[in-house]
Amino acid sequence: MSLTQSKVEAAPPTTLFLFGAHGDLVKRLLMPALYNLSRDGLLDNGLHIVGVDHNAVSDAEFANKLRDFITEQAVAKGQEPDSVLDPALWAKLEKRISYLCGDFVDGATYQAIAERIQANGTGNAVFYLATSPRFFSEVAQQLGQAGLLKESAEGFRRVVIEKPFGSDLRSAEALNACLLGVMSEKQIYRIDHYLGKETVQNILVSRFSNGIFEAFWNNHYIDHVQITAAETVGVETRGNFYDSTGALRDMVPNHLFQLLAMIAMEPPAAFGADAVRGEKAKVVGAIRPWSKAEALKNSVRGQYTAGVGDKPGYREEGKVDPASQTETYVALKVMIDNWRWVGVPFYLRTGKRMSVRDTEIAICFKPAPYSQFRDTEIDRVKPNYLKIQIQPNEGMWFDLQAKKPGPTLEMENVELGFAYKDFFQMQPSTGYETLIYDCLIGDQTLFQRADNIENGWRAVQPFLDAWREAGQVETYAAGEDGPQGAQDLLARDGRRWHSLG
Ligand code: BG6
Repeated sequence: MSLTQSKVEAAPPTTLFLFGAHGDLVKRLLMPALYNLSRDGLLDNGLHIVGVDHNAVSDAEFANKLRDFITEQAVAKGQEPDSVLDPALWAKLEKRISYLCGDFVDGATYQAIAERIQANGTGNAVFYLATSPRFFSEVAQQLGQAGLLKESAEGFRRVVIEKPFGSDLRSAEALNACLLGVMSEKQIYRIDHYLGKETVQNILVSRFSNGIFEAFWNNHYIDHVQITAAETVGVETRGNFYDSTGALRDMVPNHLFQLLAMIAMEPPAAFGADAVRGEKAKVVGAIRPWSKAEALKNSVRGQYTAGVGDKPGYREEGKVDPASQTETYVALKVMIDNWRWVGVPFYLRTGKRMSVRDTEIAICFKPAPYSQFRDTEIDRVKPNYLKIQIQPNEGMWFDLQAKKPGPTLEMENVELGFAYKDFFQMQPSTGYETLIYDCLIGDQTLFQRADNIENGWRAVQPFLDAWREAGQVETYAAGEDGPQGAQDLLARDGRRWHSLG
């Protein structure tokens, strides 16, 4: 589970307050993750889960709603209703679920929380802000004022914050300042759900536990790196949020920069929170700050129009401005100014309604010298790629050139590969299990530190500033892999995108 623990034990008794208890996150991800942790014996009997929200429901109604939702979701995905939740396991978990009705801006809510902690017989408490971001500062302040963030020998106090963490550099700095005004960095767990993915954690383990990688992991051998998060879904019911956010803010300073950091960071001295987060903050901080002109040249924005099937274009989606200039696709070129990576471009792209779902990192190596092949039929030696696929087909593949059997010299791409599913039996999980467990045991390795968040925003701020003043969003038909400009971005450097899938 935790990267720093070799022996997995049940997390200590804690009261876990879920603010925004009626929201999607709690139903879809947090509660199923808590169920999975309980199935795996990782929750202590002294764990109490308390939903906090403003609608008045009883403890039983709250727990039943969660149970019904989890079952319906799984059935909709084709599971048999009886196989979704083990009745005995659920009954055990249900006993620990309760509800607290309260307004997030009302001091009385926090008095009730204090009483609940007192009644539960453990001083340990985690406050999970699964709320709209507009409540993050308010809830933190209220917790602070009510004295609920004071740690003592009787227990720890931790706050979990979901993304979006700010909407630009200034707002992220302001939010960090507000949080750090009422608690210490050690108490703050900023979540990026990409870090809960096994394949993302595996980048660290693969890079640093296999001696072979370090030898060629630098600008002598690597030509460039491509990081892609392609989605087939559109904005669906999230038009309101998405139209004021866009693909850049939604995906780049958080998820894509986490992947970039995993690939580009220096080896940490240990798998501890300080060492890992220190190296990540350093490498994201080394991303070159583009001028506005450079930011425009090195970025492409796209918006999907109607395409395959009967799916609407972005501007026809619910709660989206019909003249919206918000990007649903972004491609960027960034450079990392340190000794390992100087001269190696990192190309990033992410988009909605693309042809396939594919989150991958493609590391393109410099081609072999060509002289041996000069007098042969081979007109070009293709570069080797190492593809690390995060989802859906989790694993790693090396592209090699091999001689095709036959009398002439012909080459073909072959693959050396490792697919997770061929080696490991993975229990169904949401990706939040590790993150919740790590928070309960106090391991911050997979959570974002303040400087990491701010460095991420610092690197994307030039794009936000440049776009506000110039340039336009291009279009791409749903089902295509982004606008023409994205192809041109790489073509100008004599490169092309690695094919998706
Ligand atoms: C979320 C974004 O943070 O990540 C969504 O807000 C996006 O827009 C999602 O769809 C992608 O996550 P995953 O795990 O499906 O790659």
